[in-house]
Amino acid sequence: MSNKMWGGRFETGPDAIMEEINASIGFDYRFGAQDIKGSKAHVAMLAAQGIVTQADAAAIAQGLEQVAGEIEAGTFQFSRALEDIHMNVESRLAALVGPAAGRLHTARSRNDQVALDARLWLRDAVDALDGQMAGLQKALVAKALEHADAVMPGFTHLQSAQPVTFGHHLLAYVEMLGRDRGRLSDARRRGAESPLGAAALAGTSFPIDRHMTAKALGFDRPTANSLDSVSDRDFSLETLSACAICAVHLSRLAEEIVLWATPQFGFVRLSDKWSTGSSIMPQKRNPDAAELVRGKTGRVFGALIGLLTVMKGLPLTYSKDMQEDKEGLFDAVHTLSLCLAAMTGMIGDLTIDRAKMKAAAGAGYATATDLADWLVRTLKTPFREAHHVTGSLVKMASARGVGLEELSLADMQSVEPRITQEVFGVLGVERSVASRTSYGGTAPDNVRAQAKAWAARLGL
Ligand code: ARG
Repeated sequence: MSNKMWGGRFETGPDAIMEEINASIGFDYRFGAQDIKGSKAHVAMLAAQGIVTQADAAAIAQGLEQVAGEIEAGTFQFSRALEDIHMNVESRLAALVGPAAGRLHTARSRNDQVALDARLWLRDAVDALDGQMAGLQKALVAKALEHADAVMPGFTHLQSAQPVTFGHHLLAYVEMLGRDRGRLSDARRRGAESPLGAAALAGTSFPIDRHMTAKALGFDRPTANSLDSVSDRDFSLETLSACAICAVHLSRLAEEIVLWATPQFGFVRLSDKWSTGSSIMPQKRNPDAAELVRGKTGRVFGALIGLLTVMKGLPLTYSKDMQEDKEGLFDAVHTLSLCLAAMTGMIGDLTIDRAKMKAAAGAGYATATDLADWLVRTLKTPFREAHHVTGSLVKMASARGVGLEELSLADMQSVEPRITQEVFGVLGVERSVASRTSYGGTAPDNVRAQAKAWAARLGL
């Protein structure tokens, strides 16, 4: 039997493999609510414009309501023979309300319909992700306030560089997430145009009112070019790229948690809720959730690269290739949402070992810059020379296997005779962080002020 929605010119139905490769209902069933919402706005506009009668529009709207109820209740029978969500809904509508259902598709095509559904779906998805990102920011800010003055090593090249505070480190991720949210909201704003009424590609000869449907569906305006409306998926690409960047941020934090939780670092402890054991080694507490947040980043990148690749060679306008836009998008949004939830849970429960962090902060001559700065400030030594003097002292300490603060004043003066006892004041890690008062620096007072400002912005 040929397809009952478009089979007029066909003698037979599709080959079984044709049906399988062509169908999208296995994944676009997720657009059920959006599809019905769009159809309701469309039919209300058709009636307002006198394109269908009020009676037919009322019957269609009522039928759509019933279909929505069936989908929500899980009783709707999805059929692969009907290809996609659009034809599944319309076919069920026809069964419920009879011939009037056939008027719904006037002045519309599945091409503008699917572009509309995707934009509506993404809008909700972006809002949910944004709420989760704000939740993670709140968890980080709360921890940062608690540990604004907890000294830890700051690294470059994963080598101890200068002491920083744990609160400062966490606030770095709050900033990143703030920009992630900004990127998502930019994508949402640019995506807030309604493609409905672009029809197949060229627009329609019916006197439709696209402003009316755009408004009814909560968009800022209708899209301005019918070809563009049905052929681009940049709204998905932008969202996916914002998701991919956020996934990078989460992955880096996850990697740090994995490192910090090792017995060798011992900076943090994940709660039992966020750790797993080993089936063979009884002593282990594995940070599986952090590893998975790091690992799942690949799926989000994959979705972005996949869709970029699908789109890059397509002539305007719609091609069926574009049906491949959905699975990656659904997976990426779901994955990022899961990672945000896991990270928020891990951070909320995280405890730290201040003593271990502080001891590590002093290791590796991390206050060498403070010594050089002291020479510049107190002895007016040019920085390059101060760097050299400090380097010699580090070499001396390192040869003896001691810290800078363990050298005697005489040792120091053997390299630079003008050094005084006062220098020992800047060699402690707490003094070091407290001195970093420049805007954005790691001094605990700065960190506290920044954390409080974020808490106020986030309504904590
Ligand atoms: N299932 C299709 C998709 O996801 C809907 C649009 C179909 N349009 C068409 N001309 N066959 O892209």
